[in-house]
This record gives sequence, structure tokens and C-alpha cells, in this order.
Amino acid sequence: MQPENPKTQTPGATGGISGGSAWSGRFDEPVSELVKRYTASVDFDKRLAPYDIQGSLAHARMLYACGILSAQDLADIERGMGQVLQEVQSGAFTWRLDLEDVHLNIERRLTDLVGDAGKRLHTGRSRNDQVATDVRLWLRASIDGIDTALRTMQEALLKLAEQHVETAMPGFTHLQVAQPVSFAHHLMAYFEMLVRDRERFADCRRRVNRLPLGAAALAGTSFPIDRERVARELGFDAICANSLDAVSDRDFAIEFCAAASLTMTHLSRFSEELILWMSPRFGFIDLADRFCTGSSIMPQKKNPDVPELVRGKVGRVNGHLVGLLTLMKGQPLAYNKDNQEDKEPLFDTVDTLLVTLTIYADMVGGIRVKADAMRDALKQGFATATDLADYLVRKGVPFRDAHEAVARAVRHAEQAGCDLPDLPLADLRAFSPAIGDDVYAVLTVEGSMASRSHAGGTAPSAVRAALAAARNRI
Ligand code: ARG
Repeated sequence: MQPENPKTQTPGATGGISGGSAWSGRFDEPVSELVKRYTASVDFDKRLAPYDIQGSLAHARMLYACGILSAQDLADIERGMGQVLQEVQSGAFTWRLDLEDVHLNIERRLTDLVGDAGKRLHTGRSRNDQVATDVRLWLRASIDGIDTALRTMQEALLKLAEQHVETAMPGFTHLQVAQPVSFAHHLMAYFEMLVRDRERFADCRRRVNRLPLGAAALAGTSFPIDRERVARELGFDAICANSLDAVSDRDFAIEFCAAASLTMTHLSRFSEELILWMSPRFGFIDLADRFCTGSSIMPQKKNPDVPELVRGKVGRVNGHLVGLLTLMKGQPLAYNKDNQEDKEPLFDTVDTLLVTLTIYADMVGGIRVKADAMRDALKQGFATATDLADYLVRKGVPFRDAHEAVARAVRHAEQAGCDLPDLPLADLRAFSPAIGDDVYAVLTVEGSMASRSHAGGTAPSAVRAALAAARNRI
């Protein structure tokens, strides 16, 4: 038992690690109830418990291997932690606010179960390196889950795209009809964004996967520890090389949040399109009913709530990124309590991203494509005007002149209330004598798409190649 200090007892507690707080020996009075609640993090950091236990076991085994802890102590700690984990997982664990955080709660329960061995566990470490280790372990597992979810989303996109290689829709610039594109090609634009998102998370994971433990409070420890051993057991690629940096920087969490913001931004852009496409003004798609809701007053409504919420949730995820950047910017080395504020934004970012990706993959699978409406829309914006200009260039007309001739032809067709391919040859020739009767082949939607057959283009042949390549990439 630690010597007890009667002055520091909180109600029902006995001081020292076996009673009240883990640090009460130095104080004349207990913290106020409000301060206790203000400084405690257990309400949210308890989700780190399995990682805290994993880290503690690796630490204890290393202490034993280095002759710092006895075999009996290690056996007690392993047995006790087994029970603590079981209690945490079953929900039987009693979390105590007066024990501040997940670390002290678990250490106290361990000590209750196994006695002195539990009190020896904290040898050569600090909560500062402990919490940084826990967060990294948790984030690493989260990144792996996110990668799986991103992959599932890519598969859903690919599956839908494979059914729509030949489905023509207007491609837009400035939200004005620009040129015909394959709907599959359009979908695959998002696939590419998700490829980069996965790369970003994988890259971030390399820097997350470093071991802070051994840095102790900030300067390292006087015990002959073996950090490499702990790193190996916990699956870290390497140890953090500087103890002050190890306990204090949260840049790994910030860059994770930046990657998450980008993924959410991609999903938000897609959402904006789904919302537009589902509007009767477009009518390009319908979303499965399970992703929509009705209106309590307008009986006819079917609202695309899920994509709207995705678009909205980018706000909170971006907010978390800015929150963490701001949390970090004023902190001197090394650990400061400020860092306790890293968890809720980080947790919420992961939760929001994971649930969004999971719903999204399912939603993409439930998109009903209205190919006829897409094709009708192509009749309205002179989508093959560029093809006519390119045609004239191939006949020897300089591009700028061709552009001008086609612009005049478009104006004429607009006045006549028809599309370019509806104009008789004589009318078209009035704008350029270079136009022959082979022009109609290039004015069709199919001709326009098929001509863009280079790598990365929208021709069905190119899109098929891209889809096959994409299958191999995921
Ligand atoms: N709950 C703390 C956190 O999340 C654990 C580290 C506390 N360290 C300390 N010296 N008070 O950052």
C-alpha cells in the first residue's frame, strides 16, 4: 500500500493509487466536483480501453524481459488484464469519473484484482506516452476499417459503372450541357477520387504506426527498457525517435482528419449530383426508397435525405480538422492537457466517415438509372457542337474559324428550335462549305463518345479498358 494522506481523500476514497486519485499525495485539498468533471475524459476515452490493455500488456512483458518486473508480477498482470478486458467487453466494468480517464480506471481495477503487481505496471511509463500509444493503436485499426469501407464503395461504383458503359448522359461544365459522356465514365471519376483517398490514408497510416511508449512523461525513463520489443509486439513499424515529440505532437491525427475531410468532400460532391439528378428537372436517377424520406405536409415528396446529410456532415468533419489544428498551434513542448481535447474530434471524424461510407456503398447499389432522361437531356444543349468544330478542323478549317462557324450554326438551330443533327445538310453548309454529308456521323451522341477513345477518354472502348484496369486495382 502507498502511504495515505488523509488530507487528500475524496469522499469514499483512501488516497494514493489504491484509493483516490493517482496523484493526490501532493495536494492539500481535493479538486472541486466541477473541476473533476471538467478535467475528466473517461466518458469518451473509455473506448480506447482494449488498446490501453493491449499496450499495457506489451509494456509489462517488456518490463519482465528486461528484468524490471518479476515473472510473478507479469503473470498477475496478464491474468488481471484478461479479466479487466472481459469486464470492459461485457459491459460489467464500472467506470469512475473520479479516476479521470481510461488509463487510471483500468490500472485501478487491475490493482483491485491483483494487488501490488497492478501498482508496478506503471514503472517506466507515463500516461503521456500511454495515451499517445493508445490513440495511435486505435487510429491504426480505424484506418484499416476505413480502407475496407472505401474499397466496398469502389466496388459498388464499379458494379454500377459496368452496367452503364453505353449509357450516354450530358457531361457538364458550369452545370451547362457540355459534351456527351458515358455514365460509367462519370461514375469512374469518383472511383479515381477514392483511389487517391485510399492512398492518402495508407500514407498517413505509416506515420501513425510509430510507438511513443518509452518516452514516459517527456524525457524517457531511467529504467533499461527495450522500446523496439514493445514496437514489435504492438505491430508498430518503428519507435518515435524523440521522446518529447512522441508524447506531444498530434500531427498524425491532424493529417488523418485532413484525409477524412477530403474523402467527405468527394462524397459531398457526389451527393450534390445525386440530389440534382433526382430532381424532376433532371430526372436522371431515382434513389431507392430506403435512402429517402417523405414530407409531413407535402404528400408527393420523396426527398434525398441521405445525400443531403452527407453534404451537411462535411461541415462537422472539416470543423474537427480546424479544431485539431487550432488545438495544436499554441502548445509548447512537451505534453499539455490541451491534448486531451484531441479525442472527441478524432473519434467523431472516424465515426462519421465510417457510417457515411457504409451507407453510401449501399446507396450507390440502389441507384436506378433513367437512361432515357439522360439521353433526352443530350438533345437540349447542343452537346455535339465541339464534335462539329473538330470535324471542320479535320477538313482543314483552322480551329478558331471552325469554332465561329459552329457557334453560328448553334444559334441558327436554336432559332429553328432543333438540335444540330436535325438541320438539313444545305443549312449546315451555309456555315461552312467544308461540311459534307459525312457530318451526321460525328453529330450523333454515339459518334461523339466513340471518337474520344484515347486513354482516360469517354469512348466505350476506353471506359471498358478503364473498368478492367480498375478491377485489378482494388
Ligand atoms: N487523459 C489524458 C489525455 O487524454 C491522459 C494523459 C494525462 N497526462 C497528464 N499528465 N495529465 O491526454
